[in-house]
Amino acid sequence: MTPEQFLEFARVLPEPLLLVSGEGQVLATNKPVADWLGLRRQQLWGKMLFELVTESINDIVKYLQACSSSRAMVIGSLTLRKNDGQMLICRSQGAVIQPWSPESSALILLRLENRTLASSNFVVLNQKIDELAKEVQRRKQAEEALKKVNQELEIRVGQRTTALQKTLKELQLTQTQLIQSEKMSSLGQMVAGIAHEINNPVSFIYGNLHHAHQYTQDLLKLVQIYQQVYSNPPSEVQKQIEEIDLDFLIQDITKLFQSMEVGAERIQEIVKSLRNFSRLDEAEVKQVNIHEGIDSSLMILEHRLQATYEYPEITVIKKYSQLPNVTCYPGQLNQVFMNILANAIDVLEASALNSQTTDNQKLTKNNPQIQIKTEIIDEKWIEVSIADNGLGINEQVRSKLFDPFFTTKAVGKGAGLGLYISYQIIVEKHNGQLSCFSVPGKGAEFVIKIPITSGS
Ligand SMILES: Nc1ncnc2c1ncn2[C@@H]1O[C@H](COP(=O)(O)OP(=O)(O)OP(=O)(O)O)[C@@H](O)[C@H]1O
Ligand SMILES: [Mg+2]
Repeated sequence: MTPEQFLEFARVLPEPLLLVSGEGQVLATNKPVADWLGLRRQQLWGKMLFELVTESINDIVKYLQACSSSRAMVIGSLTLRKNDGQMLICRSQGAVIQPWSPESSALILLRLENRTLASSNFVVLNQKIDELAKEVQRRKQAEEALKKVNQELEIRVGQRTTALQKTLKELQLTQTQLIQSEKMSSLGQMVAGIAHEINNPVSFIYGNLHHAHQYTQDLLKLVQIYQQVYSNPPSEVQKQIEEIDLDFLIQDITKLFQSMEVGAERIQEIVKSLRNFSRLDEAEVKQVNIHEGIDSSLMILEHRLQATYEYPEITVIKKYSQLPNVTCYPGQLNQVFMNILANAIDVLEASALNSQTTDNQKLTKNNPQIQIKTEIIDEKWIEVSIADNGLGINEQVRSKLFDPFFTTKAVGKGAGLGLYISYQIIVEKHNGQLSCFSVPGKGAEFVIKIPITSGS
């Protein structure tokens, strides 16, 4: 830009501008500068800058050198010496608009600013910037806080949802367990009720049998005495003797009473087993004979062991060892025996149907068996093993056996709770272990290990 061009531009600008050469000669100014100095513009042309300011020549030369060698604006301070003798402190922003060359000197544009005004403006501006920065900071913080709260909220909602889902699952499980235990308890109550109802009449039948036998013997003895005394009875008596076949009757009546006694004893045993199975009165731990529990559970399932048109008889092989009484919840343990035995019967029935459909063999050829073995492991533990020779369990099923609601049975046939409940009873209530071993196609074995004295 030439000084002439500068003048053209600078004339219309309100801010004070000075165009100087690299050596400090004033080449052009605009009116605001001349006004500040109290001179006319023409008076300023050709003057050296240091003549117009109070700063030393040295300082001015250094400043102008700094301006011509920098690409950026260089801030400096100039104190103008006004025509009336007063001083005016200015801030100067210097920028090179034409760099030095061998042909021409550098051209530097100085933009002046009244320092007092500028600094107060600066303060206001700074304050505003400061406030703005603080406001931005505050908003940023609020935004961060909101983000954090949001994240926490999301996490909490997630946690709550998981907790609720867990609770729902637990509730569903508890509900089914309740239904199951309600079923078991009503089965127990029914069994106990029937046992009680049968027990009374059987007791008086059994109690009176002995007397009835005795009375009959007495009467027969009386008949014999009559026969001895009246060796020739009248024809009417003779006819009756032949009609009732007195000799046979005398022989048979004793056998009859004996078999009635055996029958009544059997009923009493059944009643005992039924009572043993229900054990309603025993919510607390008791010392019991485990074999009685297994036998009474077998008794309840007896009807399913017998041969039918569809299924062959299931043989139960008992290999009982001498066991000490075990401290346990007897009613619950019976429930475990019942579940495992019922599963074994289910699979043996399924095996029978399977082989029937595959090769039409005779049912008895399956030879379905349940083997029950009891053992003392050491002075602290006993073991009950219930094994069947059914279809067995593959690895995929075995890994889920004790999960609640896991069943391979048809809808309505299995709820998938038997083994889950058994596991809870053995492991949680009795501090024991329940495991399953199986060779697919050959059968399955369930092994219950329980401490002799733990109880719970
Ligand atoms: N002795 C066994 N042989 C083969 N599979 C078995 C045997 N015992 C259990 N299972 C398998 O384990 C599954 C789960 O048994 P579980 O007793 O828990 O339930 P379920 O018998 O199906 O139903 P629920 O006992 O509730 O009526 C059975 O569906 C069956 O597939
Ligand atoms: Mg079952």
